[in-house]
Amino acid sequence: MGKAVRDLSKYRLETRLALAGRDPARFDGAVGPPVHRTTTIVLPEVSDLYDKPIKTYGLDGMAVQEALCEALVAVEGGAGAVLAPSGLGACTLALLSVAEAGGEVLVTDSVYGPTRRFCDTLLKRFGVGVRYYDPRIGGGIAKLIGANTKAVFMESPGSLTFEVQDAPAIADAARARGVATIIDNTWSAGVHFKPFAHGIDYSVQALTKYQLGHADAFMGAVLAGAPQGWARVRACYKQLGLGAAPDDAYLVLRGLRTMALRLRHQGEAALEIAHFLESRSEVARVLHPALPTHPDHAVWKRDFTGASGVFAVVLKPVAEGRLAAMLEGLDLFAMGFSWGGYESLIIPCDRGLVRTAAPWRAEGPLLRLSIGLEHPADLIADLEAGFSRLAN
Ligand SMILES: Cc1ncc(COP(=O)(O)O)c(C=O)c1O
Repeated sequence: MGKAVRDLSKYRLETRLALAGRDPARFDGAVGPPVHRTTTIVLPEVSDLYDKPIKTYGLDGMAVQEALCEALVAVEGGAGAVLAPSGLGACTLALLSVAEAGGEVLVTDSVYGPTRRFCDTLLKRFGVGVRYYDPRIGGGIAKLIGANTKAVFMESPGSLTFEVQDAPAIADAARARGVATIIDNTWSAGVHFKPFAHGIDYSVQALTKYQLGHADAFMGAVLAGAPQGWARVRACYKQLGLGAAPDDAYLVLRGLRTMALRLRHQGEAALEIAHFLESRSEVARVLHPALPTHPDHAVWKRDFTGASGVFAVVLKPVAEGRLAAMLEGLDLFAMGFSWGGYESLIIPCDRGLVRTAAPWRAEGPLLRLSIGLEHPADLIADLEAGFSRLAN
């Protein structure tokens, strides 16, 4: 029987991922935590029902959800994590934890589309003002912060257009004015960018992507840098009646064990494919922050320790029918909206773009690629064949 390992901070990522959330002595020697499918927790004493800091209802989360939260903190740091039923649910939970009627939130113009929809509909309906800012604003955010500003919501690199924000400068400006900061840190999987080391208060993860890694369940998490922030998100989670399904938490925890290996492979393969795309005459620009040609490469290099496998490419102008022929004929790349799984995906995404603070200008169609676990040489050959259909 092994013993529980609690302080994992001295270990490297791969080791932390292998050890996090394990406590065999508590579970008959089982290497991983059990999956409790329960609503009800029965308690022996009357005083247990109300007066003790113990679990009293399954919705609060059992061993597997706790182990997952512990593992997420072991990856990204912070005081604690709260799970959500999806990545989008984690974005909205984070916003609801800090927003106030009569106050406003500043949101990056490059935010994930459904987060933007939530801000423009439900948040506004409940009296929260929303203003979008240019993702390249950096310390200039100070000028937008007013007496009513409650939070800044960042996402870096941004959805679809991959601008890297000067998140430390934004966090500094917000902190100086007592404004909370949130970052959707899904692209880095909590591995390549450390929000809490840069003074950001909350990190959002769509665990559906790299943590799960197998495209077969939804989950999200909000991590907080400080205990008060963690308590605030936990309270909001309870008020909303959210929960995280035990079987899905188990799948995410299982995915985490191999995440470092997958992420490394996918990051390297994506960069190889990004270089290939840069060499093609059909391509106007490749939006991958690890490429020296990316406008935010210097910020990315300063703040990130690596790249994941999602990026975009702007093609030179091309007829719609030719683009459809290219995409529909691909053998390995499939068209689908998620990313971070084992399967490579590609989507045309101009129709999903909404920008109101920093207009998007492009030479031609925008495509997003998520690189999976296939061999990069096979993926490049698939794209090469696609480019020949684009030309004909
Ligand atoms: C940046 C980002 N955040 C959040 C989400 C939402 O995750 P989920 O699909 O689990 O709701 C996505 C989904 O694509 C995303 O790309």
